[in-house]
Amino acid sequence: VSVQLQPSAGKPISSMLTGVFFEDINYAADGGLYAELIQNRDFEYALTDKESRDKNWNETHSWSLTGNDISWKVDSINPIHPNNAHYALLETKVTGGMLVNSGFDGVAVKAGETYRFSVSLKAIDPNAKSVTVLLLGKEGKTLAQTTINGAGSNWKKFNVSLIASATDGEARLALQPREAGILAIDMVSLFPAKTFKGRVNGLRADLAQKVAEIRPRFVRFPGGCVAHGDGIGNIYHWKNTIGPLEARKPQRNLWGYHQTAGLGYFEYFQFCEDIGAEPVPVVAAGVPCQNSGVGGGGQQGGIPMAEMDQYVQDVIDLIEYANGDIKTVWGRRRAESGHPAPFNLKYIGIGNEDLITDVFEERYLMICKAVKAKYPEIVVIGTVGPFFEGTDYREGWAIADREKIEMVDEHYYQTPGWFINNQDFYDSYDRSKSKVYLGEYASRGTTLFNALSEALYLTGVERNADIVTMASYAPLLAKEGHTQWNPDLIYFNNTEIKPTISYEVQKIYGVHAGDVYIPATVSVSTNDEAVRKRIGLSVVRDSKSGDIVVKLVNMLPVATTLKIDLGQIIGASTDATKIVLKGKPGDRQILPEQAVVKLQADGRLNLDAYSFTVLRFKGR
Ligand code: AHR
Repeated sequence: VSVQLQPSAGKPISSMLTGVFFEDINYAADGGLYAELIQNRDFEYALTDKESRDKNWNETHSWSLTGNDISWKVDSINPIHPNNAHYALLETKVTGGMLVNSGFDGVAVKAGETYRFSVSLKAIDPNAKSVTVLLLGKEGKTLAQTTINGAGSNWKKFNVSLIASATDGEARLALQPREAGILAIDMVSLFPAKTFKGRVNGLRADLAQKVAEIRPRFVRFPGGCVAHGDGIGNIYHWKNTIGPLEARKPQRNLWGYHQTAGLGYFEYFQFCEDIGAEPVPVVAAGVPCQNSGVGGGGQQGGIPMAEMDQYVQDVIDLIEYANGDIKTVWGRRRAESGHPAPFNLKYIGIGNEDLITDVFEERYLMICKAVKAKYPEIVVIGTVGPFFEGTDYREGWAIADREKIEMVDEHYYQTPGWFINNQDFYDSYDRSKSKVYLGEYASRGTTLFNALSEALYLTGVERNADIVTMASYAPLLAKEGHTQWNPDLIYFNNTEIKPTISYEVQKIYGVHAGDVYIPATVSVSTNDEAVRKRIGLSVVRDSKSGDIVVKLVNMLPVATTLKIDLGQIIGASTDATKIVLKGKPGDRQILPEQAVVKLQADGRLNLDAYSFTVLRFKGR
């Protein structure tokens, strides 16, 4: 293989290219990134959360009793907040019994770590004033305990700390009343003190850190299909997800579980800020998934036109919430949550893979136009519909062309072969039209071969990053045992994090990004198109450091030698950091190897079979 570089034809490319797509799917939020350890803390789980109407999926989910002469029920008279209508009434006749929460597949605790516990209590019997809080190990051993006193006739919140005496991945949290009587209990919460960046109501530190290491330039959230729901009643409304936790509106997650909204819009914005990423919230385009009607089920429908003004206002208010001065209504709400400074929102996604119909178009354009009229500086990212078998983006693009939507969101999940054969997907895109945000893409699978096909495809995306300004892989997180969608970027359980090889590819692209693309002609000593397509190359310069990054993908089953005259762009600095990701095509767990190397004097590079190689040269 020989490569001719054309440094004089270097072109500016997007410095926003690598980001992540966070969808609350696969228990990515509750039981995942959101560090809350208590499941169903608010007794709001409902039979309707589950399509299967699993009879155990109700307000008592994850809770059980131990001991004698103790009973409980869920009540809803005078709750803490109307949005949190249910709470537990625990009746003790003889002390000793406990109400126990099993967490999300257990409560994982670590020896010596501090946990912040909080609960709201109300003494229904004046006697029932105190409760002991215990962390119990899998075998029943007490790992920590403390007693809370002072429940009164009105709801009162208590905060205490617990330090675990041992590590246990399947501990439980127990509440043991100290006196006979009836005690009302709600908002039972346990967080590790060490959340990501120490945030209150924060995120799981190890998971958030793994995400940060990709160096995502942006985070798209909260979905995917979660953003538009599977019926009008299931649309994700950002206003339901901010403010005090007990005032947020939990709801059915369309992926078949319960969404507390504890990880809500404030926390999403804060996370973005904490990792230096631009927030890219996605709101429904006034229609739920595929324009499904009120209850879903394929009925065509959208938010009734009589309610659209309010819906449009909600979208406008979101921008005020993110960016408004604290004197504004929604800016003040943000400040009340502890962030007086604006979040500097620059992008908003409107719609997700929607079916392009009149119902959609009318509502979508109402929102796009209202946002642009009030906030011309905000980049509106439209949707061009799904890219399934038998569909394409034509109708969505026709609207974007006509209405001059600045950027559109494309999605595709395909085979590795598709990615290999479509490296030129964006080469012919008209540069005068909307920019592209490749919001979801993945080769279907989690092997090295899949990851290499993505690395190869991304060389083509970098080449076209004058028009493709942002790209994010399939859903970011998936909890083992609760995975509804594959592939995902990072699999995890309560104690382990298992990044895929695709994660390593994303991280390499995130860490070794550039803002100038240096075109190159690649010649391969064969006429076999299938062989030629298995070699990919992309050369970028990072203006800030002046560094040159060469990315090389070899998807052939044999090693190959590549000759490239890098001297013209790297001068005499032949020392490079070399990163190689290689293995057998079916491998699922590989880490990149990194070393400092010297470029061979004749400019020859050896590329291993099935490998992704990156060379980073110091700027001059
Ligand atoms: O990522 C899973 C789903 O795939 C998303 O919700 C949707 O946008 C896409 O079809």
